[in-house]
Amino acid sequence: MDIVLSGIRSTGRLHLGNYFGALRNFVKLQREAECFFFIADYHALTTHNDPGLLHENVRNVLSEYLAAGIDPDTATIYVQSDVPQIAELSLLLGMHAYVGELERTVSFKDKIRKNPDNVNAGLLTYPVLQAADILIHRATHVPVGKDQEQHLELTRVFARRFNNIYGVDYFPESRPYNFGAELVKIPGLDGTGKMGKSEGNGIYLTDPDEAIRKKVMRAVTDSGPTVPDSPVSEPVENIFTIMKAVSEPAAISFFREKYASCEIRYGDLKKQLAEDIIKAVAPIRERIEAIRADGAYLRRVVALGAEKARESAAKTIADVRGMMGIKPF
Ligand code: TRP
Repeated sequence: MDIVLSGIRSTGRLHLGNYFGALRNFVKLQREAECFFFIADYHALTTHNDPGLLHENVRNVLSEYLAAGIDPDTATIYVQSDVPQIAELSLLLGMHAYVGELERTVSFKDKIRKNPDNVNAGLLTYPVLQAADILIHRATHVPVGKDQEQHLELTRVFARRFNNIYGVDYFPESRPYNFGAELVKIPGLDGTGKMGKSEGNGIYLTDPDEAIRKKVMRAVTDSGPTVPDSPVSEPVENIFTIMKAVSEPAAISFFREKYASCEIRYGDLKKQLAEDIIKAVAPIRERIEAIRADGAYLRRVVALGAEKARESAAKTIADVRGMMGIKPF
């Protein structure tokens, strides 16, 4: 059976892009494969740690996973720092990771360019820790976005290298998993590019209705078509793309036709989009708030997840220690 694993860094709230691009598909996958979903709080520590906020951020992402429909009895959902075996595997894999290859990682180069005064060792070894996250459960499929491809490539390099050095066929080649036709990419509201946590162009799953209306009404468009059947500019196409995720097909064709005949009013288009986003987001937001407030439930979920994740992780660590020659007396 496939072993699926994915993680989200606990650095902020999740947006529409995370939901339609990832979470909603995780929910489907959990019934088809053995799934591990976790909150990467160690990875969050590599940048801007605020000890007063870290726990809240973990609680938020956890509530968001659960509100999206991840079932803690079906999938294993856990917090990275609850599973000490991950840190141990990261240390062991680090013995076979070369500084040169880590320094050449695009995400590392990006981070040091943006934060030249915080070039910490955790940033450099970020891909080793991520490989440990994946290999600790010997995951075969990792559903992640394009920006994570290099980290997965390194995970395969480390896995292969380990297998070669110790003459074993132990770690699998973990593959990125994309959802094929089901993959929806949600663009931002600022005209270009995708919706992102740090871009400030997103609708958060916890945004109140009024905030959603305001953000959508401010979305970038253009001056409108003047010639029938003219091509649609990127900002306007982006609005249609978001509609594809949340609106009825009839509403989309209505506005497509209005565009083609140059009768479109962007104000009406945005109003429709805003109401359709609200219809999708409001029930999720309500579930997030209810789950967030239920400390007893969250404690149960986290304890169960930690127990299941540790059981799988302990087995891997025992095997790896043995293969590397760490033996009990
Ligand atoms: N680096 C990933 C990101 O920024 C988060 C992550 C950490 C992850 N460990 C992982 C994703 C393991 C998939 C598998 O999005």
